[in-house]
Amino acid sequence: MSQVLPVPSESDGAIASGPSEQEQLIVALDFPTATEALALVDRLENSCRWLKVGLELYYAAGNGLVETLRKRGFEVFLDLKLHDIPNTVAGAVRTVSATGASLLTIHAGGGAAMMAAAAHAADAPGAPKLLAVTVLTSMDSTELAGVGVTANPQEQVLRLAKLARQSGINGMVCSAEEVQTLRTALGSEVTLVTPGIRATGEAAGDQRRVATATEAISRGASMLVVGRPITRATDPAAAARNILAEIRKARSL
Ligand code: C5P
Repeated sequence: MSQVLPVPSESDGAIASGPSEQEQLIVALDFPTATEALALVDRLENSCRWLKVGLELYYAAGNGLVETLRKRGFEVFLDLKLHDIPNTVAGAVRTVSATGASLLTIHAGGGAAMMAAAAHAADAPGAPKLLAVTVLTSMDSTELAGVGVTANPQEQVLRLAKLARQSGINGMVCSAEEVQTLRTALGSEVTLVTPGIRATGEAAGDQRRVATATEAISRGASMLVVGRPITRATDPAAAARNILAEIRKARSL
C-alpha cells in the first residue's frame, strides 16, 4: 500500500514537487453501480490516485470492484464505517483486508473494545490502515442532541479521537471545523481525513460542517474526501484539478 501521509511538511520536500497533492485528494465514488463508478473514473483522466468506495457502491459491487480499481493502479479507501460488536468488526476487517484497500473506516462510536479489536485485526501484512469516523459531517449540535449526545461536535469529535488513539487507531475522519483542534491535541503523527469539502457558495446538500479545500488543508488535514463537487461536475477532471491546485496553494501558504 502507498504511504498514508499524516501531515505534509516543508522538510519532506514534497510541497514543491508534482504528484504529492494527489496523495491528499480522495474522490468519493458514490454511485449505485460499478458501471457508473468506472465511467466516472474514466472521466477523471488520471487526475486522481485515491478513490473512495462507500456503502452504496460496496453493497452493489463488493470486493471485486475494489480489486478492479487496484488493478488500474488506484489506492482505495474502503469507507464501510464498521460498527458492531468487537468480534464481528474484527472479522470484517480481516475479510476485507484481502482486497488490497489502503484505508478502511470504523465508527469510533462503537467504543474502545471494538476499536481495539479492529486495530488488532488490522495489525497484519497487507491489511488496510484504519480510520475512526468521529462525528459524521452531516451532523450538527441539534442532530447530536437528537441521539442523546449533549456535547457539541468539537467536544464529541475530540473525545472520540482520543478514544480511538488510546485504542490503537492513528487515523480519524473529522470535519474541517475540528481538524485544527485534533492536530493540536494529537500531534503530527495522526492521519486526519476530512470530508464535507465545498467551494465558497457551493451547495452543501446533506452536509452540515463544511469548509473549502484551502481551509481544511491549512488547518492540518492530511487528506480530503470530495464527492459531489467532482462527481457531479460537468467536467469532473477539471473540478479535480482545481481542488488539487487549491491543495497545492494551501500547502505553500
Ligand atoms: O458528496 P460529498 O463531497 O458530500 O461526499 C462526502 C463523502 O464523504 C461521502 O461519501 C460520505 O459518505 C463521506 N463521509 C462524510 N462524513 C464523514 C465520513 C465520510 O461525508 N464523517
